Amino acid sequence: MRAYQLNAYGKPGTHQLQEVDAPTAHADQVIIRNEAIGLNYPDLLMVQGMYQKRPEPPFVPGRDCAGIVVAVGPEVTDFTVGDKVVAQTFSGAFAEVVSAPVTRVFHRPDSVSAIEAAGGITVFNTAFVAVSIRAGVKAGDRVIVTGAAGGVGAAAVQVARNLGADVVAIVSSKAKAQHALASGANKALIIADRSEEGLKSFFKKEVRTAWGDDRGADVVVDTVGGTMFTAGLRALGFAGRLVVVGFASGDIPSAKTNYLLYNNLSVMGAPLDIHFDNALEQMRGGTDWWLKLMAEGKAVANVTKTIPFTELMQGLQDIHDQKVVGKIVVTLGSAG
Ligand SMILES: NC(=O)c1ccc[n+]([C@@H]2O[C@H](COP(=O)([O-])OP(=O)(O)OC[C@H]3O[C@@H](n4cnc5c(N)ncnc54)[C@H](OP(=O)(O)O)[C@@H]3O)[C@@H](O)[C@H]2O)c1
Repeated sequence: MRAYQLNAYGKPGTHQLQEVDAPTAHADQVIIRNEAIGLNYPDLLMVQGMYQKRPEPPFVPGRDCAGIVVAVGPEVTDFTVGDKVVAQTFSGAFAEVVSAPVTRVFHRPDSVSAIEAAGGITVFNTAFVAVSIRAGVKAGDRVIVTGAAGGVGAAAVQVARNLGADVVAIVSSKAKAQHALASGANKALIIADRSEEGLKSFFKKEVRTAWGDDRGADVVVDTVGGTMFTAGLRALGFAGRLVVVGFASGDIPSAKTNYLLYNNLSVMGAPLDIHFDNALEQMRGGTDWWLKLMAEGKAVANVTKTIPFTELMQGLQDIHDQKVVGKIVVTLGSAG
């Protein structure tokens, strides 16, 4: 089979498709004929050796895939050959045939295509960790999402809305505001000035008061980091929680703890991979939940572009160059 096996870390353009041995089913492994691969910012970090986990090459990267089960190991009872599935593999997905541990494989409802499922799994699972598990958002909560037209941001808007929250989306353009509103945000506010002072004033004066009073928000889900994080704290009300999802700005901020103390705030991280390692049952429940929402038409992965397997690394380069709006998915076999 063909796979993007990494022999050394490097920029997307340095990695080639290669012939490698196809995986075989053993123990608790599910073997999937791959139909779709979701591409994510963390994949871009992973191929360059910039991700928090750095497996020793050679290895096949790729965290998300969807397809059809072609074999199962002797310990697998929940899946059988021919099942439609989606998998959160964290590595190994950039291949025509993927081996995934059964704990990371999910039944895909008939009405959810391989493209939608693969495009959605990392962003919806991350949003589920941030909004539901970490922030504990419930009906009526006021939630702010930064980078709300990005992959995780748009999923966070949808997860929060499906939990009954009132969501304000923070974006940097009119087109992104339309996108956030289409994801279900109650309101979208456009950043006029990204400077530190500009953002602080925006969050204190416009975002905090977006609900028509000065009570502030219950939760900020921050995918951008840097000055957005610091400014985001200004919009929180009593017992407000800021959930750190990522640093799309490239800038890792620090919180002034006196500000947290005086304003009774909490800051918390929302790492997806670690939740699969430590809170597997919660993650399995969450994945089944948003797949059902997708099947019911209440959530969408917003796949705006599909590309063939041979162009996968160009897709990662496009993410690097910020050319992708929405999700980009690689198609293989019958989905392509
Ligand atoms: N916690 C986890 O386990 C986990 C899982 C997946 C991803 N992540 C992280 O979450 C972050 C967002 O991922 P994503 O897939 O949603 O990214 P994305 O689709 O590229 O969206 C990121 C958004 O951030 C904003 N942004 C601000 N400054 C930016 C800059 N300099 N470059 C790029 N975007 C910038 C943009 O929105 P505006 O222009 O509207 O501000 C953009 O829409 C990344 O840091 C990623 O590594 C974390």
